[in-house]
Amino acid sequence: MIRACPVSELPEGEALRLEGSVPVSVFHAEGGYYALDDTCSHQDASLADGWIEGCYVECPLHAARFDLRTGVPNCLPAKNAVRTYPVVVADGVIYVDTRVRQDVA
Ligand code: FES
Repeated sequence: MIRACPVSELPEGEALRLEGSVPVSVFHAEGGYYALDDTCSHQDASLADGWIEGCYVECPLHAARFDLRTGVPNCLPAKNAVRTYPVVVADGVIYVDTRVRQDVA
């Protein structure tokens, strides 16, 4: 488990990029927390810099939209999903389990 931040530091509609061998970002949207690979599956853009709307994040570079719940894009130009990770909140702190990669076909 990677410690992300206290819940108080990630307000609704915001994202936090966690640096690691594979960058992962945590999103706070629709009252929940979601973790995805930070790098867009289309090219090299950070999804944490994108726009969150509902349960989707729009890539800041070419506007592909990814479902935060599944990592699946719902529009071009991205065709492939990004991986998602379990998020746990314990004692007011957000953790991401990056050992568990949930690939979507
Ligand atoms: S880099 Fe994300 S849609 Fe192109």
